Amino acid sequence: MKNGILYLLSLCLLAGCSLVREEWIDEAPVYCDVQVHRTLMELRGDSGHIDYTRTPRNILDGETAWNLRSVLTPEEWTAGFFPGILWYDYENSGDTMVLREAQAFTEPLGYLVRQKVYDHDLGFIMIGSYLNGYRLTQDTEYKKVLLAAADSLATLFNPQVGTLLSWPRNVEMFGGHNTIMDNMLNLELLLWAADNGGSERLRDIAVSHADTTMAYHFRPDYTSYHVAVYDPETGRHLYNCTHQGAADSTMWARGQAWAIYGYTMVYEYTHEPRFLDFAQKVTDAYLQRLPDDTLIPYWDFSRSDYRDASAACIVASALIRLSELCGNVAYLDRAMTMLQTLSAPPYRCGDARPAFLQHSVGNYPAGSEIDCSINYADYYYIEALTRLKRHLK
Ligand code: GLY
Repeated sequence: MKNGILYLLSLCLLAGCSLVREEWIDEAPVYCDVQVHRTLMELRGDSGHIDYTRTPRNILDGETAWNLRSVLTPEEWTAGFFPGILWYDYENSGDTMVLREAQAFTEPLGYLVRQKVYDHDLGFIMIGSYLNGYRLTQDTEYKKVLLAAADSLATLFNPQVGTLLSWPRNVEMFGGHNTIMDNMLNLELLLWAADNGGSERLRDIAVSHADTTMAYHFRPDYTSYHVAVYDPETGRHLYNCTHQGAADSTMWARGQAWAIYGYTMVYEYTHEPRFLDFAQKVTDAYLQRLPDDTLIPYWDFSRSDYRDASAACIVASALIRLSELCGNVAYLDRAMTMLQTLSAPPYRCGDARPAFLQHSVGNYPAGSEIDCSINYADYYYIEALTRLKRHLK
């Protein structure tokens, strides 16, 4: 009881019940709404018609307009993020024009459940689009697509290993069943489905994946590897390596961000205390190693060249939830500092570009999307702002 009162008091002081609620908390979602309208106008162009099969993916260094990618290929792992941005903007603004655009950008992705799963990113695609859509509309057609998508994602599970295969196309390249840290996020589709009329087996698969990843995907100091490789026949763990980090031995910022978000989310669905404990450990490993008090990491914790706003957005969103789940108000405090930093120059695009944020890194080792605006940074930013608003209500 005493702890509860202290927690509430700290919350008030930190964030909102007092007279010092900071302006950016209410202004940032309005800024996002302005940028969403700019983007939609850019997509309409001179024809006045939007092609809903093409999604805004990035604005590269030196550019001012979105680069679009076709969503009619399962290789476009970011296809769910722009619809997700629209769903969150609709949630915040109540603008029914944005609702119609969110529906229009969601529906073309339904084809993915009518074909064999390509890889684990089916989760990212469906969570951003259909799951947010279902949360806000309760549309039963969306629910059907989500349940079918969960069954499809589950076909990647290898019971010998205990995890989902992340990249079927890369089994030969890695010499085994590969699982990447990013895959933790996609467990949400399985856990949600198990809670909403899908098979109980989906929950067992998600829990097995989270436990196996906990055992083999981290160093003793709770920093993560990007990739774990297993023998597909015996399930034996073979080795760890990186794909998007600076080196096998370093902590790729977005990889650790996926771990923080992933274990927080798995605890939220399962209420298994070991996942909450682990979420705090991987969070503390990240927070203790941040380079300075901006709380925005470089793209890899061994580097000091390019920052990665996308990792900061993912972590900020997760920390708001983690703070609610474990009652540690320090996590909320850190999330607010991150969001406040992101809501100002140099991270905010402002008039220069129609994205929300700049200074993210996609895949540095591949020389791809370095120091740019990227749709998933914007998605987790607006998700974090929406969670914060809900939290402070
Ligand atoms: N899931 C891919 C990435 O984080 O870049």
